[in-house]
Amino acid sequence: MMAADLLSAPNGGPGNAASVPDPADWQARAVWLRAELDRHNIAYYVFDRPTIPDAEYDKLFGELQALEAAHPELICADSPTQRVGAAPLGQFPQVTHSVLMLSLNNGFNETDVIAFDRRAREALAKSHSQQEIEYATELKFDGLAINLRYEHGVFTQAATRGDGATGEDVTENVRTVRAIPLRLGTGAPPALIDIRGEVLMYKTDFARLNARQRAAGLKEFANPRNAAAGSLRQLDSRITARRALRFFAYGIGALEGAALPSTHSALLDWYCSMGVPVCIERTTCVGADGLLEYFHNIGQKRAQLPYDIDGVVYKVNAVAEQQKLGYVSRAPRFALAHKFPAEEALTVVQEIEVQVGRTGAITPVARLAPVFVGGVTVTNATLHNEDEVNRKDIRIGDTVIVRRAGDVIPEVVAYVPEQRPQHARRFVMPGKCPVCGSPIVRLEDEAIARCSGGWIKCAAQRKGGLQHFVSRRAMDVEGLGEQLIDQLVDRQIVTTAADLYKLGLAALAALDRMADKSARNVLDALEKSKSTTLARFVYALGIRHVGEATAKALASHFGTLDALLQASKAQLLEVADVGPVVADSIIEFFADPLNIELMAQLRAAGVHWKENSTAEARHRPLLGQTFVLTGSMPTLTRDVAAAMIEAAGGKVAGSVSKKTSVVVAGAEAGSKLAKAQELGITIIDEAGLLDLLQQS
Ligand code: IVH
Repeated sequence: MMAADLLSAPNGGPGNAASVPDPADWQARAVWLRAELDRHNIAYYVFDRPTIPDAEYDKLFGELQALEAAHPELICADSPTQRVGAAPLGQFPQVTHSVLMLSLNNGFNETDVIAFDRRAREALAKSHSQQEIEYATELKFDGLAINLRYEHGVFTQAATRGDGATGEDVTENVRTVRAIPLRLGTGAPPALIDIRGEVLMYKTDFARLNARQRAAGLKEFANPRNAAAGSLRQLDSRITARRALRFFAYGIGALEGAALPSTHSALLDWYCSMGVPVCIERTTCVGADGLLEYFHNIGQKRAQLPYDIDGVVYKVNAVAEQQKLGYVSRAPRFALAHKFPAEEALTVVQEIEVQVGRTGAITPVARLAPVFVGGVTVTNATLHNEDEVNRKDIRIGDTVIVRRAGDVIPEVVAYVPEQRPQHARRFVMPGKCPVCGSPIVRLEDEAIARCSGGWIKCAAQRKGGLQHFVSRRAMDVEGLGEQLIDQLVDRQIVTTAADLYKLGLAALAALDRMADKSARNVLDALEKSKSTTLARFVYALGIRHVGEATAKALASHFGTLDALLQASKAQLLEVADVGPVVADSIIEFFADPLNIELMAQLRAAGVHWKENSTAEARHRPLLGQTFVLTGSMPTLTRDVAAAMIEAAGGKVAGSVSKKTSVVVAGAEAGSKLAKAQELGITIIDEAGLLDLLQQS
């Protein structure tokens, strides 16, 4: 059966009034409702193409529930209403797998992959390069392996992997997982099939679950895998039913009454046609080069995927070749898991100290026993703020899970209760700034404690402010790193950003680890940085709550620094992105004579930019902002929306990155939306876009 068949409506679909059974004919109506609900489920979970809004689905579901309540004889095990969970179990019964659930051999680098391919070629007697092996490539999901048994197309049992030979019977829990079909798609299903795959939780669902746990005062989960495992191993399946679990198939166990497809990719296509979710990132390729290319492509996409993966999996595609290669101990010779460097590791918190940021914000930082995670050795990890330390109950001496994903700052996820030593010490927020000795204050409505010294008293704030000023997205002074700034501040050569432009060759060259040449490079970079944009300059000032996107919006709205300086609160509030807190912070910054003096000195030193007249800026209100369009909007086509944005001075880009200012998301927005959420980028819909354009 083709995918399209699975998505076509029963009896001609809801659009065909004649074929939709009359609600009075309750038996036919129940059959129709079930088929409709299954069809929408498959569209959502298998093809990632929702066909109706959630509320409509809920309406159909409610109608079926009501029908079944009135006519209990209608209830059958594969009805979508049976996903609500059953009474708690005392424990999980054991299940013996009819075919062992094996594990995979791991590879960690190119050499391992090349060796895997060479061994396979040798074993298959493919000696010269024309005889490359075809591989099926897929993701290595970071979830929980599961075996789903279907008898004559009906879901009858689910079991965890356990030790590979015996697992736990989690049938009732799995029945609540909407991504898993209770009946395989129409056609002639096999008499028996064990479909194997991974149960996991999407990152957004994980965040929502933890927010719910937090609100209810319950323990949070450390990561989506733990959340998926915890949800699947609930003795009370009604709890599982409330957890958004997903499933992707990647293998097969027992099969009776049907022929095994001749390739792994055909097996996955077959699953898809039966309404079983299979990951869309799968593909086929040839030889070790093809494998490595896939690995690199997925590595690039990894952060944008809606779920966690810990590598990719390569499988010899032809089943006949797989059989020839066979198994070594508990892993197939025909497959390899190529792992990414682990993003989580265990280590010990040796101390918790505080760091002072450029706005005086005090951040508790865990000093860790060095640990290799996410491809680098980590010795420090942020604990964000005092409340976070208390909420996670991290203590000095604890063994903790440290996470470093992509370029994100390493963080302490959770402590390991079983390994807490008796002498573990609680963190106490100091009363005084460790750098300047000023009192640390915490406003009632703020999560952050701050050093009250300000940059004049506090060298840490001065250093932070200067680091921000020279950073790539601000004035972009190459070569002026943290260590140089530390020395310049400690030796009292530099106090404000304006002092940077007064530096001479001799002063710079006299610093530790500086030679004449590097000093000259820093001076050149400073000179180059003088020619900038208003947006960069405003961002570089380090006004609290004014990030890069806000600085761009302010610059394009006001056009000149003077117009911005003179703006009233009401005028500031006209700028998209600016709310009352931001507006107050801007006004406070420009009311400080020291800041006015600093800006004057910077301009006198030669810092300059091209100013636009305010009228011109008003005309192009989106100047300096980059938009990404995703999903389909109710009225505007993508081309029209893009043209409108460009006419207002904005740019339209194809992919979401840290540089994106705004994502306009329509229906069925996919990975771009997820990425935007992850990066904390402003997300608006069509109405929001139209509002933004109208503000001009
Ligand atoms: S195939 C005979 N494919 O990795 C091979 N496993 O180390 C059986 N896993 O327990 C596994 N993604 O939980 C396979 N695309 C994938 C996978 C995958 C994740 C997990 C699975 C298994 C473990 C094996």
